[in-house]
Amino acid sequence: MSATRDREQWGSHYGFVLATIGSAVGLGNIWRFSYVAGENGGGAFLIVYVVCVIVVGTPIVLAELALGRRAQGDAVSAFDTIAPGSAWGGVGWLAVISGFVILSYYSVIAGWALKYLTGALLGSLWTQAGTGFGAYFTGFISNPGEPIGWQLAMLGSAMFIVAGGVQKGIESVNRLLMPLLGGVIIGLAAYGATLPDAGAGWRFLLEPDFSALHDPTVYVAALGQAFFSLGIGMAVFITYGSYLPRSIPLKTSAIAIILGDSLFAIVAGLAIFPAVFSFGMDPAAGPELAFITLPQVFLAMPGGTVIGSIFFALLVCAALTSMISLLEVPVAFLVHRFAFRRWSAVSLVGGICFALGIPSALSFGLLSGIQIGSHGILDAIDQTVSNYLLPTGGILVALFVGWRWTRSEALAEAELDDSRLGVTWLWLLRAVSPALIALILLSNTGVL
Ligand code: TRP
Repeated sequence: MSATRDREQWGSHYGFVLATIGSAVGLGNIWRFSYVAGENGGGAFLIVYVVCVIVVGTPIVLAELALGRRAQGDAVSAFDTIAPGSAWGGVGWLAVISGFVILSYYSVIAGWALKYLTGALLGSLWTQAGTGFGAYFTGFISNPGEPIGWQLAMLGSAMFIVAGGVQKGIESVNRLLMPLLGGVIIGLAAYGATLPDAGAGWRFLLEPDFSALHDPTVYVAALGQAFFSLGIGMAVFITYGSYLPRSIPLKTSAIAIILGDSLFAIVAGLAIFPAVFSFGMDPAAGPELAFITLPQVFLAMPGGTVIGSIFFALLVCAALTSMISLLEVPVAFLVHRFAFRRWSAVSLVGGICFALGIPSALSFGLLSGIQIGSHGILDAIDQTVSNYLLPTGGILVALFVGWRWTRSEALAEAELDDSRLGVTWLWLLRAVSPALIALILLSNTGVL
């Protein structure tokens, strides 16, 4: 395809790896990981999570990257290049649609983080302790207008960066922010270690409680979290991989991404749980852990208002680098397939995501009466996407690369050969991960 010639590319290997880690590390690692781990028994959850990341996550990350680099195209054309005229292109469409849906509600939560950061810096957050942070948070998210404004601010920033292009926008922001975020989270974990009951927090996260493994919901939660946190099943790595020149080694990149994402989540847990336990809070508080429990903890700890400001700045920046990747998938699709100019594609996708996100933004206030299952709108969308849509996308990508792509080509593109490692990768994609994902999905829907 002639578009290949003038296709944008990453400036360096380092920049590419930081951009993919930037996509993976986000609200999922800090806000979502800590509350999902908290709700699912801590240590037991962590074991299942790590197994999911290794057995299911790693092969799929490598498969997506290899597919993207080979196709040098958007989510849909990646499948079309290898299986022209087949229904597989539908997997790409599913990915593009997931991008819209995730970004729509993700920017709402990112907006909450921005509101808290602003409040922490200006001091207005800390004066809320009197009436309680619970009432403050509930008051804020049930407000009919304010959350929409913050959502727009975050979405607008992501749009501005993505409009700047692959190198000048996406890569340069990640090169700046990601090393900074890595340093900050390690600093926060080190501070956590100085707190009086740090040990209890560590034990909660790291000590396996095997009895929790009897509960099937732990498995779904861990798998959903692995998909969401790595950002797989939605063609991010296909799209980011498509801007790769052949000279960049894929295997080491995949390992750097997996390690970077998992370590970030665990270190974030090591920052959060010691604080939660030292101040006698409930680790299983759910989604409000970061917004109600932690501000209380910050206020109680020495230097807490500074630490709190740093924490929310971290949350905002991590969310931003992930929103960039969520936006880039549909944008790349419009630019590549329909010859949109980058700016127009960004405006269109951003505009739709903004509109689509409004029901999520209002789901705790005006629209709180609408319940899907036992969840409000935002929660219901998050659960559906993370626990069902992404895993389905993951199964399909795995089967596609495992069975539909020519064996020798897939192995060569992933820089593997017919060695034990290469064959293991293929069979993880062909059978093990799809079967595991399907089993967990079916058990959750009550079919099994
Ligand atoms: N991984 C990000 C996080 O942990 C969110 C994210 C970015 C994502 N791109 C994605 C989730 C693609 C699913 C699919 O916050």
